[in-house]
Amino acid sequence: MSEHKIAVIKGDGIGVEVVDEAVKVLNAAGEKYGITWNFDELPWSSDYYDQHQQMMPDNGVEQLRDYDAIFLGAVGRPDIQDHITLNGLLLPIRRTFDQFVCERPSVLYPGVTSPLSGKKPFDIDMVVIRENTEGEYANMGGHLYEGDPNEVAIQTSAFTRRGCERIIRYSFELARRRGKKNHVTSITKSNALGYGMVLWDRTFQAVAEDYPDITTNSLLIDAACMDFIRRPEAFDVVVASNLFGDILTDIGAVVTGSVGLASSANFDPTRANPSMFEPTHGSAPDIAGQGLANPMAQILTSVMMVRHLGEDAAADAIEESVKRVLEVGEILTPDLGGSASTSSVGDAIAANIS
Ligand code: NAD
Ligand code: IPM
Ligand code: MN
Repeated sequence: MSEHKIAVIKGDGIGVEVVDEAVKVLNAAGEKYGITWNFDELPWSSDYYDQHQQMMPDNGVEQLRDYDAIFLGAVGRPDIQDHITLNGLLLPIRRTFDQFVCERPSVLYPGVTSPLSGKKPFDIDMVVIRENTEGEYANMGGHLYEGDPNEVAIQTSAFTRRGCERIIRYSFELARRRGKKNHVTSITKSNALGYGMVLWDRTFQAVAEDYPDITTNSLLIDAACMDFIRRPEAFDVVVASNLFGDILTDIGAVVTGSVGLASSANFDPTRANPSMFEPTHGSAPDIAGQGLANPMAQILTSVMMVRHLGEDAAADAIEESVKRVLEVGEILTPDLGGSASTSSVGDAIAANIS
């Protein structure tokens, strides 16, 4: 018997629907594998903002500190500006807990059709490692002469040697652990961004010298976007800055079938702070509340959490169950060409856990 204490933040829109399904699946796996999940649900969301004029209490992040993991759905509602909701909840958690690794796998699973022609299962099998605490998301800047025709906005990126080095080193270690192509691709834009991205490139070259067994290349972000579509099978581990990693992982998601399958984890690999597990997709207001959302991204995100908590057998069982439901192909949401509801997909995955 083992026990884990999990903070659950469903958030907004489809976040609520897909977290409910993932919790259902986690409970089913917990029963089979003798794990007790102590879930504490925190109502922090845009609805909470309506009542309290803030997304979470002043000490919200500190309330999360003692949890073994944070399990989050999505944040964002169209009637509140995104910079208020995201800077009020999600982004401060990533930064305060120094969750500097955002790990986002893109795998073409059997039973899933890629929009790219001729791709077979596992032809695409890559993981993007996104720097998650600095870079373009450093949140430094301001407005001058607000509302005036001469208004000025300053948005500063911050790249540190330490920040670049630790994320790049993590990527090389992961390439070794995966033992697949033993390759790391660095994403840059040093042709235009002659300070931050030059430091990124120099750090990449320096770290690569410590890993003679791992081959490397460097791609400009624009060309990388093209290659994620033209030849995604070429990639193994891809390391990118905060913004570039954000953009690339939506492409990685769609070429492997749907953003409804795209899992993601925000790790503090030192384990000094809790890590946070939230899928790549957002709150999808266009389909929220209709039972149309694919819960698989959230469920595969729970697999990353369960593995992080050391429960490998349960993690494997959940992943296998998702794969089985995909391969059978009878209970799928509309994004994958089916007509099943969010909750029937969750039911099928929970029932298939063995
Ligand atoms: P989105 O990811 O919410 O949606 C993009 C498209 O993908 C939509 O057509 C949506 O219907 C579809 N989609 C997303 N998830 C799906 C799923 N599980 N199943 C089926 N289809 C799915 O991105 P957006 O529309 O740009 O953003 C909506 C809101 O979410 C914004 O407020 C944005 O800031 C926020 N957002 C939050 C997070 C997060 O909390 N981690 C991530 C991304 C976007
Ligand atoms: C993601 C999201 C967030 C990000 C937004 C909502 C701030 O797009 O997790 O991919 O850009 O990190
Ligand atoms: Mn994103």
